[in-house]
Amino acid sequence: MATIPFFPPDLFEEDRQAFKDLLFEVGTDDEQKFILGRRTAELEEELRRTTEAEHVIACSSGTGGLNLAVQALGVGPGDEVIVPAFCCQPVASSVANFGATPVFADVDPHTMVIDPESVEQLITSKTRAVMPAHVFSIMADMPRINKIAHDRGLKVIEDAAVAQGAVLDGVPSGRWGDLGVFSFFQVKAFGTAGEGGAVLTDDPELGRTVRMLRNHGQDGITRFLHHKVGQNSRFDEVIAAFQLHRHAGFEGRLERRARIADYYTERFEPLADRGILAPPAGRNGRCYYVYSLLVERRADLRAWMSEKDIGTHVYYPVPLPRQPAFAAYAPEGAEWPGAQRASDQNLAIPIWPHLSDSQVEYVADSVCEFFD
Ligand SMILES: Cc1ncc(COP(=O)(O)O)c(C=O)c1O
Repeated sequence: MATIPFFPPDLFEEDRQAFKDLLFEVGTDDEQKFILGRRTAELEEELRRTTEAEHVIACSSGTGGLNLAVQALGVGPGDEVIVPAFCCQPVASSVANFGATPVFADVDPHTMVIDPESVEQLITSKTRAVMPAHVFSIMADMPRINKIAHDRGLKVIEDAAVAQGAVLDGVPSGRWGDLGVFSFFQVKAFGTAGEGGAVLTDDPELGRTVRMLRNHGQDGITRFLHHKVGQNSRFDEVIAAFQLHRHAGFEGRLERRARIADYYTERFEPLADRGILAPPAGRNGRCYYVYSLLVERRADLRAWMSEKDIGTHVYYPVPLPRQPAFAAYAPEGAEWPGAQRASDQNLAIPIWPHLSDSQVEYVADSVCEFFD
């Protein structure tokens, strides 16, 4: 069996010609518009149609989207935003960059998403918002988080960077929060050949604000009239064209990922008492961007998989409040046992949609053999 890398270099192999054609089309288009043109507007419309969000604003990246969302809520010095202790760093930097305090909530020790009880305990008079993030293949418990937040008048920024296409209780990811954020980073579910992201909201005022903030606080009508201190989080026309092209196959790729995950989980569930925990089975609130196991003997399994020529990946080996960058926001003596466990034990195995059935079987066999 040939090597199975964790990050496949041929993600866009089938779209290579289309990418070249679109690059040529945008590059030679008479209007010579390379950002925020008609293709970006079309992509926003396509995402609006499929998610049924009232407003979709394409932006520079998932990180850019979180920055826009935090700023649009007017979060600033003296404010607190509750974020997960185990996650990608932009959940914390997007808050800290506006002078506010990221407050770290622990995560569920199995699903690795933010624990609503921990959120509830951390709410103070300074809390302005809660920022749950969906992690790997599992959506955060949005019904409980929304209830906790809205009962106290707090806003919810839903970091759906990894979960585009997931649906929880009939509601698409990105639609649960007052603002939702997607990322188009290469390996994401709706990844692209470059950078990009989107902000979703049903609130017209927030939508208008995010749209202005994205382009230096301008309203899109009068150039060089700045209503707000904004950012540059604009969207690229070549990427918009490519994402419109790729959107047609998105559902099929998601389904293939989900089927691979179903198979893995079926194979790994019987090993639960051997020190390996698979994500819970099912499709509700799930998006198989990454398939991550919790493994007690992680280094040994990783070495074993490497001998079998299978790439694996460890995400976030240090919880956010234990990172030097965020040490100032970690109260003395505080512990995040769920986040620490996730950092110590998560191990992701390949799940990209163009894996063949025999490759998927080989990956599963290899994990199982380790425990034989
Ligand atoms: C949960 C989460 N939020 C936000 C981001 C940031 O997205 P981007 O890389 O597009 O800036 C990521 C990226 O990995 C992520 O995993």
